[in-house]
Amino acid sequence: MTEKPVALIVLAAGQGSRMQSDLPKVLHRLGGVPLVGHALATGRLLEPEAVIVVAGHGAEAVGKAVAKLDPEARIALQEEQLGTAHAVRQALPLLDGFEGRVIVLYGDTPFIGEETLANLASHAADVVVLGFEAADPGRYGRLVTGPEGLERIVEYKDADAAIRAIRLVNSGVLAADAALLREFLPRIGNRNAAGEYYLTDIPELARAAGHRVEVVTCDEAETLGINTRAELAQAEAAFQARARARALEDGVTLSDPATVWFALDTCIGRDAVIGQNVVFGPGVTVESGAEILPFCHLEGCHVSAGATVGPFARLRPGAELGGDVHVGNFVEIKNSVLDEGVKVGHLTYLGDAHIGEATNIGAGTITCNYDGVGKHRTEIGPHAFIGSDTMLVAPVRVGARAMTGSGSVITEDVPDDALALGRAKQVTKPGLATRLMQVLRQKKGN
Ligand code: UD1
Ligand code: CA
Repeated sequence: MTEKPVALIVLAAGQGSRMQSDLPKVLHRLGGVPLVGHALATGRLLEPEAVIVVAGHGAEAVGKAVAKLDPEARIALQEEQLGTAHAVRQALPLLDGFEGRVIVLYGDTPFIGEETLANLASHAADVVVLGFEAADPGRYGRLVTGPEGLERIVEYKDADAAIRAIRLVNSGVLAADAALLREFLPRIGNRNAAGEYYLTDIPELARAAGHRVEVVTCDEAETLGINTRAELAQAEAAFQARARARALEDGVTLSDPATVWFALDTCIGRDAVIGQNVVFGPGVTVESGAEILPFCHLEGCHVSAGATVGPFARLRPGAELGGDVHVGNFVEIKNSVLDEGVKVGHLTYLGDAHIGEATNIGAGTITCNYDGVGKHRTEIGPHAFIGSDTMLVAPVRVGARAMTGSGSVITEDVPDDALALGRAKQVTKPGLATRLMQVLRQKKGN
């Protein structure tokens, strides 16, 4: 075991042509986030000193996505995809002065586990390759081992029948000291069946120079790489199955686990209850004991303890629900803070708003937050009562304990304790309803 500083290089320059897509492969979503986000998230757990993503196809889009996923990660550009060794070389200038262990990951291989990466990081050998016993070794590179560890890796295209019979194969993940990569990468040529610079030449070169080269193995499931839409769909199923199992283990009730969809970073507290057909987009935290009723969609939001949401509610980014808040059916909330005990039961849109403690929002209330150009805020104080079908034309403020009459269009601020009515006065004509009906029926001739 060694405790060296770690740097990550994530290879993500390939086109992924088998995806049949205009989107770079690593930007296809798995568990609600771009594929490359999975390798980045697991890699982060090692507390690396540097994280470099090698981008090529769609580099601009990949760069933007990476900046959101991991703001400290940097991008190395690989203009032409000349092979995995060439890709790693593009990252080395960004690791100038780094003297530790470099771990190379693939952006399209999302399931490598934290423990596996930790094993690679702390292994005493100079080069460590992550291998696995393949049920079907297919076109993977074959690991040729001997009494002293890994002798060499032979790519499928370059292998003869005897080598192809080997079932211990290369996952693509490799760890080596930065100094060793600086020394040997420039020596790798491209005289092979693919005409590419193979990173898999490192073990043989390093061993010939007297370095210790070893294989660490992991479960085949961790090495699943995504090349096609079908593989992406399978990976999504595997991801969801694991996320559901983890939620159940953590003490979350899932009424029908198979219908609940999680994102990579979904965080749900113990004794929360999640109904059928609930979808979690990225960035959701649900505290202990909260309840999400069936058919809700949540994304970038926080639900505090004791809150109930749904059925059929949508919480969009920036929705913050305080303790014991109740959000009912057909309610949409975006970029709004609801303080403790707020009730918003039915058919409402709250956007860019702050609602004070224990305020009641009547059915059909809408914050008119967008004027076609800009967004404006609505502030509602504590213990207020917003009558059904109130239009709150932002920017607008409703004070503490204030009320609005049903059907009001509120365009001016309402002071604390005031009642605001913004609607036409009712006119009642005795007997006119039946008389009107008689006239109408006569006209129709019956
Ligand atoms: C590679 C390994 C093989 C291993 C397999 C596991 C080599 C030479 N071979 O083969 O031993 O069994 O992965 O899946 O390393 N990439 C770049 N730039 C490049 C080339 C590739 O960024 O110039 C990226 C790709 O986007 C991909 C990864 O590196 O994420 C692997 O490249 P790929 O071409 O899929 O390698 P394989 O032929 O699968
Ligand atoms: Ca591949």
